[in-house]
Amino acid sequence: PFRQRLLVVANRLPVSAVRTSEDSWSMEMSAGGLVSALLGIKEIEAIWIGWAGVNVPDEIGQKTLTKALAEKRCIPVILDEEIVHQYYNGYCNNILWPLFHYLGLPQEDRLATTRSFQSQFAAYKKANQMFADVVKEYYQEGDVVWCHDYHLMFLPKFLKDYDSNMKVGWFLHTPFPSSEIHRMLPSRSELLHSVIAADLVAFHTYDYARHFVSACTRILGLEGTPKGVEDQGRLTRVTAFPIGIDSERFIHALDLPEVKENIKEFEERFKGRKVMLGVDRLDMIKGIPQKILAFEKFLEENACWRDKVVLIQIAVPTRTDVLEYQKLTSQVHEIVGRINGRFGTLTAVPVLHLDRSLEFHKLCALYAVTDVALVTSLRDGMNLVSYEYVACQNSKKGVLILSEFAGAAQSLGAGAILVNPWNITEVAAAIDQALNMPSDKREKWHARNFLHVKTHTAQQWAETLVSELNQTVAEQRRRT
Ligand code: UDP
Ligand code: G6P
Repeated sequence: PFRQRLLVVANRLPVSAVRTSEDSWSMEMSAGGLVSALLGIKEIEAIWIGWAGVNVPDEIGQKTLTKALAEKRCIPVILDEEIVHQYYNGYCNNILWPLFHYLGLPQEDRLATTRSFQSQFAAYKKANQMFADVVKEYYQEGDVVWCHDYHLMFLPKFLKDYDSNMKVGWFLHTPFPSSEIHRMLPSRSELLHSVIAADLVAFHTYDYARHFVSACTRILGLEGTPKGVEDQGRLTRVTAFPIGIDSERFIHALDLPEVKENIKEFEERFKGRKVMLGVDRLDMIKGIPQKILAFEKFLEENACWRDKVVLIQIAVPTRTDVLEYQKLTSQVHEIVGRINGRFGTLTAVPVLHLDRSLEFHKLCALYAVTDVALVTSLRDGMNLVSYEYVACQNSKKGVLILSEFAGAAQSLGAGAILVNPWNITEVAAAIDQALNMPSDKREKWHARNFLHVKTHTAQQWAETLVSELNQTVAEQRRRT
């Protein structure tokens, strides 16, 4: 039977390569929501195109890496160090990322950022061209090409310039900010024009889709319609498709002997204390300092809880070459040190902070033993950690404290304590409320969110997107 091929193009491949000798490689799972969600797609034959997260200047390396990745159905885009510096560390993660999350342009040495803007933007464009070149090499007529995230806003245009019949979708995994924020970007118009070259442009929430359409009407002067954006008679469909997780993977994991063993160990280790959990990449958008300060305030005000609760914060290292991330690491360490110094005893500390990633089975066990999960993102496209927590809580039925600025607040908000993470008093009160919540209310909230997480999966998200893209293209062809 005819099976449509799907080319998934994202800056980050699901595996990151580590070189073990001149011609051999080992693969590690990459971190982050984009990779976890796309790995949750099982029924669709996808080929991945992206960066392997490693610098490979030599030909032997490039050849052997390409071969090693082919086994995982991945195709590398080889980027040299200078491009990575300017495109990934610079334009993507020092400019677009903070701006799309309403954190403005980098505070440190604002003028230097302003001065390097042009060269970083040029590198961004060049990198996008390199992704396009690899797509062209593998593209066959009829394939669906699905581009992902803020790294690749030029890709739709480059692909359509090459072949206007190519079916191209673009999905943004971050928020799309108000047009008043997007306006600040010197390259605001070019970026929007390149994105709307796609047939379908999609976001996690209607708010983000609406912001995108108003950016196109206000900045580009185009017409916004209920279906999307129109430019000289050509419609780009703009819509919201919230992502989900592969919930079964988490639910089944809890039955594995290894995970059960981990759960038992954790229960033993934290006996007599309530467990609160945060799992985030160590990123300024996650509001980690705010979260820990709120916990400190809670301990200050509730002396009786001091030896009865522990906050475990898993802080997965990320984008460590970017200055803002380095500064965040020291800031968080300082706060954690202070609180543990203040409230720790010879046998226990209130905050268990780990700068590392966790393997999947340990993560599931940790989710399962947690009484209160704390998601305090200052802004977050969706936040899959909140979904994963709910998926693992069928026996405990713990409480989710969730930032109203995470996309997930729109789907899980009715079964969570919603907070403004900037308001530390409010978050401290939410911790108190969560730790004391009666079981009937916890059960009701959990049941509601569990149903949502089980019925809104990554698989469905991908299927809907691909079918909507096919339909959009079919409609366009009927119109012309
Ligand atoms: N995660 C990971 N390694 C870890 C801990 C967590 O890869 O050590 C995963 C986690 O399971 C989740 C993803 O990273 O699927 C984080 O996704 P989220 O949407 O919450 O935030 P993002 O990192 O994409 O901003
Ligand atoms: C977020 C972004 C993804 C990215 C992930 C991890 O989820 O939306 O595109 O892959 O963070 O960040 P990294 O820079 O390591 O790819």
